[in-house]
Amino acid sequence: MMLPDKRLLLLPTLLLALLATATTAAEPRSGYEYIKQSTRDMQDDDFENPGMLALEQGRQLFNVTPAGREKSCAACHGSEGEDLDVTGIARYPVHNGNGLVTLQKQINSCRENHGDGSLPIDHPDLIALETFVRNRAAGEVINVQTDGPMAPLLEKGEQLYRLRYGLIDMSCQHCHDFYPGQRIRGQTISQGMSNGFPAYRLDIGEMTNLHQRIQQCLSLMRAEPFEAGSEEINLMGLYIMSRSNGLKIETPAVRY
Ligand code: HEC
Ligand code: HEC
Repeated sequence: MMLPDKRLLLLPTLLLALLATATTAAEPRSGYEYIKQSTRDMQDDDFENPGMLALEQGRQLFNVTPAGREKSCAACHGSEGEDLDVTGIARYPVHNGNGLVTLQKQINSCRENHGDGSLPIDHPDLIALETFVRNRAAGEVINVQTDGPMAPLLEKGEQLYRLRYGLIDMSCQHCHDFYPGQRIRGQTISQGMSNGFPAYRLDIGEMTNLHQRIQQCLSLMRAEPFEAGSEEINLMGLYIMSRSNGLKIETPAVRY
């Protein structure tokens, strides 16, 4: 009889498909739930959290009035950023009618508007400002727009997420949708969410924003990382942020 054999052959495929639907439909869970207790304790304690250094640096930059300029960020947004729109921050990246605006891009355009010039993407000062600004919205629920002009961009971002890369021929989805909870090189794989970023990474001893974390995973996959500011990294960043809709902002998180 042919039938049982065919059924048997189909079984692994079916199981994989089931696994895929079960995991993609899962509630988003913060990376916080997958890290060690000692790392959680470090994140929760403002004196222990190494990300607080970048936050302090961001606070200073926010309050300084550059030579020859009239205004600091604080002049418009309050010295503690209390006049920033925090629910608005939880919606970044946003679409302004022309295209995507990342939080860094918004900060840069504010700098340009008051004559301070923009900083190169992912410059440490820009990451410090990003950390400070995003921390103002800590506890806010991520709420990236998914309809309207965002829909086609998210589709492209999702394609990049499902594409196989590099020497190991895996997609982001393999690890972050199919294997959360499994261990790899002593680390527990999470769902690859964005709500902790910019975050302090203990492994490399540096503040890392979401785009850099994506680049680091691409390197891990032995693939050529998308360049800073490229369309690909922006689309992937948007998609990862939208997957995190519903999670609370934890910036600055501590991650391995
Ligand atoms: C002259 C006033 C002014 C200064 C100075 C200024 N901004 Fe803004 N900023 C604005 C306005 C107005 C908006 C509203 C959004 C827009 O630009 O359309 C805004 C929006 C923002 C947002 C988006 C969230 C929100 O509240 O809408 C962030 C983040 C931000 N600014 C950060 C900064 C940072 C960081 C600096 C300093 C490098 C800075 N701004 C300097 C006026 C200013
Ligand atoms: C071989 C497995 C693997 C693949 C493939 C992979 N990652 Fe990761 N990723 C990890 C590990 C391990 C970590 C660190 C532990 C964790 O948070 O999952 C991580 C962390 C992350 C984080 C940070 C999560 C947090 O809360 O700190 C993000 C975001 C992320 N990956 C995105 C991606 C993207 C986007 C891709 C595809 C370009 C990708 N990853 C591919 C293994 C992988």
